[in-house]
Amino acid sequence: MDSRYQIRPVQSGDIDELYVMLRELAEFEKLLDKLVGTPQEMAQALLGGEGTSRGLVVEQRPDKHAQPESSVLVAYAIYFENYSSFMCRRGLYLEDIYVRPAHRQQGIGSALMQHLAGIAVERQCGRMEWAVLDWNQNAIDVYESLGATVMPDWRLVRLEQAGIAALASRSKASRSKASRSKASRSQDA
Ligand code: ACO
Repeated sequence: MDSRYQIRPVQSGDIDELYVMLRELAEFEKLLDKLVGTPQEMAQALLGGEGTSRGLVVEQRPDKHAQPESSVLVAYAIYFENYSSFMCRRGLYLEDIYVRPAHRQQGIGSALMQHLAGIAVERQCGRMEWAVLDWNQNAIDVYESLGATVMPDWRLVRLEQAGIAALASRSKASRSKASRSKASRSQDA
Protein backbone atom coordinates (compact mmCIF):
# COMPACT_ATOMS: atom_id res chain seq x y z
CA MET A 1 0.00 0.00 0.00
CA ASP A 2 1.63 3.26 -1.03
CA SER A 3 1.81 6.47 0.96
CA ARG A 4 -1.24 8.05 -0.69
CA TYR A 5 -3.32 5.78 1.53
CA GLN A 6 -3.76 6.06 5.27
CA ILE A 7 -5.43 3.64 7.71
CA ARG A 8 -7.28 5.32 10.59
CA PRO A 9 -10.16 4.62 13.00
CA VAL A 10 -13.69 5.47 11.84
CA GLN A 11 -14.89 8.96 12.77
CA SER A 12 -18.43 10.31 12.84
CA GLY A 13 -17.95 12.14 9.51
CA ASP A 14 -17.23 8.79 7.80
CA ILE A 15 -20.51 7.04 8.59
CA ASP A 16 -22.44 7.91 5.40
CA GLU A 17 -19.56 6.81 3.13
CA LEU A 18 -18.85 3.77 5.30
CA TYR A 19 -22.49 2.72 4.97
CA VAL A 20 -22.21 3.06 1.16
CA MET A 21 -19.18 0.71 1.26
CA LEU A 22 -21.08 -1.70 3.52
CA ARG A 23 -23.81 -1.73 0.89
CA GLU A 24 -21.24 -2.41 -1.83
CA LEU A 25 -19.94 -5.40 0.18
CA ALA A 26 -23.50 -6.70 0.71
CA GLU A 27 -24.10 -6.40 -3.04
CA PHE A 28 -20.80 -8.20 -3.81
CA GLU A 29 -21.74 -10.99 -1.40
CA LYS A 30 -25.27 -11.22 -2.92
CA LEU A 31 -26.66 -10.48 0.54
CA LEU A 32 -28.34 -7.12 -0.05
CA ASP A 33 -31.62 -8.47 1.36
CA LYS A 34 -29.80 -9.03 4.69
CA LEU A 35 -28.74 -5.39 4.96
CA VAL A 36 -31.45 -4.13 7.32
CA GLY A 37 -29.42 -1.90 9.67
CA THR A 38 -29.27 1.86 9.20
CA PRO A 39 -26.35 4.34 9.15
CA GLN A 40 -27.60 5.66 12.52
CA GLU A 41 -27.44 2.17 14.03
CA MET A 42 -24.00 1.69 12.52
CA ALA A 43 -22.81 4.96 14.10
CA GLN A 44 -24.22 3.90 17.46
CA ALA A 45 -22.45 0.53 17.30
CA LEU A 46 -19.08 1.86 16.14
CA LEU A 47 -18.93 5.22 17.87
CA GLY A 48 -21.51 5.07 20.68
CA GLY A 49 -20.15 4.79 24.19
CA GLU A 50 -21.57 1.29 24.76
CA GLY A 51 -20.57 -0.19 21.41
CA THR A 52 -17.87 -2.86 21.41
CA SER A 53 -17.44 -2.95 17.63
CA ARG A 54 -14.71 -0.90 16.03
CA GLY A 55 -14.06 0.28 12.50
CA LEU A 56 -11.02 1.18 10.45
CA VAL A 57 -11.14 3.06 7.17
CA VAL A 58 -8.53 3.58 4.50
CA GLU A 59 -8.48 7.11 3.22
CA GLN A 60 -6.89 8.17 -0.04
CA ARG A 61 -5.21 11.50 0.61
CA PRO A 62 -5.81 14.19 -2.00
CA ASP A 63 -2.86 14.85 -4.30
CA LYS A 64 -1.24 18.25 -4.00
CA HIS A 65 -3.39 19.81 -6.77
CA ALA A 66 -6.73 18.70 -5.31
CA GLN A 67 -8.89 20.43 -2.72
CA PRO A 68 -8.20 19.10 0.81
CA GLU A 69 -11.84 18.02 1.15
CA SER A 70 -11.53 15.76 -1.89
CA SER A 71 -10.04 12.84 0.10
CA VAL A 72 -12.05 9.66 -0.27
CA LEU A 73 -12.56 6.43 1.63
CA VAL A 74 -11.45 3.40 -0.36
CA ALA A 75 -11.68 0.51 2.11
CA TYR A 76 -12.85 -0.46 5.56
CA ALA A 77 -12.74 -3.17 8.21
CA ILE A 78 -15.14 -3.74 11.12
CA TYR A 79 -14.07 -5.89 14.06
CA PHE A 80 -14.79 -6.65 17.69
CA GLU A 81 -13.32 -8.72 20.49
CA ASN A 82 -14.57 -12.22 21.26
CA TYR A 83 -13.28 -14.84 23.65
CA SER A 84 -11.82 -18.34 23.52
CA SER A 85 -12.60 -20.32 26.67
CA PHE A 86 -10.07 -23.00 25.69
CA MET A 87 -7.31 -20.41 25.45
CA CYS A 88 -8.74 -18.26 28.26
CA ARG A 89 -7.81 -15.36 26.02
CA ARG A 90 -9.71 -12.79 24.07
CA GLY A 91 -9.67 -12.90 20.30
CA LEU A 92 -10.22 -10.45 17.48
CA TYR A 93 -13.21 -11.19 15.27
CA LEU A 94 -13.19 -9.58 11.84
CA GLU A 95 -16.75 -8.91 10.73
CA ASP A 96 -16.04 -7.24 7.38
CA ILE A 97 -13.15 -6.29 5.18
CA TYR A 98 -13.78 -4.49 1.91
CA VAL A 99 -11.63 -2.66 -0.64
CA ARG A 100 -13.35 -0.73 -3.43
CA PRO A 101 -12.72 -2.37 -6.83
CA ALA A 102 -10.56 0.44 -8.30
CA HIS A 103 -8.15 0.16 -5.36
CA ARG A 104 -7.69 -3.63 -5.18
CA GLN A 105 -4.43 -5.51 -5.84
CA GLN A 106 -2.35 -2.69 -4.37
CA GLY A 107 -1.78 -4.19 -0.95
CA ILE A 108 -4.59 -2.28 0.83
CA GLY A 109 -6.46 -5.39 2.03
CA SER A 110 -3.21 -6.95 3.28
CA ALA A 111 -2.22 -3.68 4.99
CA LEU A 112 -5.59 -3.58 6.77
CA MET A 113 -5.13 -7.20 7.90
CA GLN A 114 -1.61 -6.39 9.11
CA HIS A 115 -2.94 -3.38 11.03
CA LEU A 116 -5.60 -5.60 12.65
CA ALA A 117 -2.90 -8.14 13.56
CA GLY A 118 -1.03 -5.31 15.29
CA ILE A 119 -4.16 -4.47 17.31
CA ALA A 120 -4.56 -8.18 18.17
CA VAL A 121 -0.95 -8.33 19.42
CA GLU A 122 -1.43 -5.14 21.46
CA ARG A 123 -4.63 -6.54 23.00
CA GLN A 124 -2.92 -9.89 23.68
CA CYS A 125 -5.48 -11.77 21.61
CA GLY A 126 -4.96 -15.52 21.23
CA ARG A 127 -6.35 -15.58 17.69
CA MET A 128 -8.07 -13.71 14.89
CA GLU A 129 -11.11 -15.24 13.22
CA TRP A 130 -13.60 -14.41 10.50
CA ALA A 131 -16.01 -16.10 8.09
CA VAL A 132 -15.84 -16.10 4.31
CA LEU A 133 -18.34 -17.31 1.71
CA ASP A 134 -17.22 -20.57 0.13
CA TRP A 135 -17.35 -19.13 -3.41
CA ASN A 136 -15.18 -16.11 -2.56
CA GLN A 137 -11.95 -17.73 -3.74
CA ASN A 138 -10.20 -14.40 -4.27
CA ALA A 139 -10.61 -13.46 -0.60
CA ILE A 140 -9.68 -17.00 0.49
CA ASP A 141 -6.45 -16.76 -1.55
CA VAL A 142 -5.60 -13.43 0.08
CA TYR A 143 -6.26 -14.83 3.57
CA GLU A 144 -4.18 -17.94 2.91
CA SER A 145 -1.34 -15.80 1.53
CA LEU A 146 -1.36 -14.02 4.91
CA GLY A 147 -0.98 -17.31 6.79
CA ALA A 148 -4.64 -17.90 7.76
CA THR A 149 -6.38 -21.29 7.47
CA VAL A 150 -9.93 -21.94 6.26
CA MET A 151 -11.16 -24.39 8.92
CA PRO A 152 -12.45 -27.50 7.09
CA ASP A 153 -14.37 -29.03 10.00
CA TRP A 154 -16.30 -26.05 11.39
CA ARG A 155 -19.71 -24.80 10.21
CA LEU A 156 -21.24 -21.41 10.93
CA VAL A 157 -24.41 -21.76 13.06
CA ARG A 158 -26.98 -18.98 13.13
CA LEU A 159 -30.27 -18.15 14.81
CA GLU A 160 -31.93 -15.15 13.18
CA GLN A 161 -34.09 -12.55 14.94
CA ALA A 162 -37.40 -14.41 14.60
CA GLY A 163 -35.75 -17.64 15.75
CA ILE A 164 -34.23 -15.91 18.78
CA ALA A 165 -37.63 -14.49 19.77
CA ALA A 166 -39.31 -17.86 19.26
CA LEU A 167 -36.67 -19.66 21.30
CA ALA A 168 -36.72 -17.06 24.06
CA SER A 169 -40.49 -17.30 24.40
CA ARG A 170 -40.73 -21.08 24.00
CA SER A 171 -42.85 -22.35 26.86
CA LYS A 172 -41.73 -25.00 29.31
CA ALA A 173 -44.54 -27.23 27.99
CA SER A 174 -43.29 -27.11 24.39
CA ARG A 175 -39.70 -27.76 25.62
CA SER A 176 -40.75 -30.91 27.46
CA LYS A 177 -42.90 -32.01 24.49
CA ALA A 178 -39.83 -31.58 22.23
CA SER A 179 -37.60 -33.57 24.57
CA ARG A 180 -40.27 -36.35 24.91
CA SER A 181 -40.51 -36.69 21.14
CA LYS A 182 -36.68 -36.73 20.86
CA ALA A 183 -36.55 -39.50 23.48
CA SER A 184 -39.19 -41.55 21.66
CA ARG A 185 -37.34 -41.09 18.35
CA SER A 186 -34.13 -42.41 19.91
CA GLN A 187 -36.03 -45.42 21.36
CA ASP A 188 -37.45 -46.17 17.88
CA ALA A 189 -33.98 -46.02 16.34
N1 ACO B 1 0.61 -4.92 -7.37
C1 ACO B 1 0.07 -6.07 -7.79
N2 ACO B 1 -0.45 -6.99 -6.94
C2 ACO B 1 -0.39 -6.72 -5.66
C3 ACO B 1 0.16 -5.53 -5.14
C4 ACO B 1 0.70 -4.61 -6.06
N3 ACO B 1 1.24 -3.46 -5.66
N4 ACO B 1 0.02 -5.54 -3.80
C5 ACO B 1 -0.60 -6.69 -3.50
N5 ACO B 1 -0.82 -7.40 -4.60
C6 ACO B 1 -1.43 -8.72 -4.70
C7 ACO B 1 -1.20 -9.51 -3.44
O1 ACO B 1 0.01 -10.23 -3.49
C8 ACO B 1 -2.38 -10.42 -3.43
O2 ACO B 1 -2.12 -11.53 -4.24
P1 ACO B 1 -2.22 -12.98 -3.61
O3 ACO B 1 -3.66 -13.17 -3.14
O4 ACO B 1 -1.85 -13.84 -4.73
O5 ACO B 1 -1.26 -12.98 -2.47
C9 ACO B 1 -3.45 -9.62 -4.13
O6 ACO B 1 -2.81 -8.55 -4.77
C10 ACO B 1 -4.47 -9.05 -3.18
O7 ACO B 1 -3.82 -8.49 -2.05
P2 ACO B 1 -4.19 -7.03 -1.60
O8 ACO B 1 -3.91 -6.07 -2.70
O9 ACO B 1 -3.56 -6.78 -0.30
O10 ACO B 1 -5.77 -7.21 -1.36
P3 ACO B 1 -6.90 -6.19 -1.81
O11 ACO B 1 -6.56 -4.81 -1.43
O12 ACO B 1 -7.25 -6.45 -3.23
O13 ACO B 1 -8.09 -6.70 -0.85
C11 ACO B 1 -10.02 -8.08 -0.57
C12 ACO B 1 -8.48 -8.04 -0.79
C13 ACO B 1 -10.34 -7.39 0.74
C14 ACO B 1 -10.46 -9.54 -0.50
C15 ACO B 1 -10.67 -7.34 -1.76
O14 ACO B 1 -10.40 -8.07 -2.94
C16 ACO B 1 -12.16 -7.14 -1.63
O15 ACO B 1 -12.62 -6.19 -1.00
N6 ACO B 1 -12.95 -8.05 -2.25
C17 ACO B 1 -14.40 -7.93 -2.29
C18 ACO B 1 -15.03 -8.03 -0.92
C19 ACO B 1 -14.57 -9.24 -0.16
O16 ACO B 1 -14.41 -10.33 -0.70
N7 ACO B 1 -14.37 -9.04 1.15
C20 ACO B 1 -14.01 -10.13 2.06
C21 ACO B 1 -15.25 -10.82 2.52
S1 ACO B 1 -14.97 -11.90 3.93
C22 ACO B 1 -15.01 -10.84 5.25
O17 ACO B 1 -15.41 -9.70 5.14
C23 ACO B 1 -14.54 -11.31 6.62
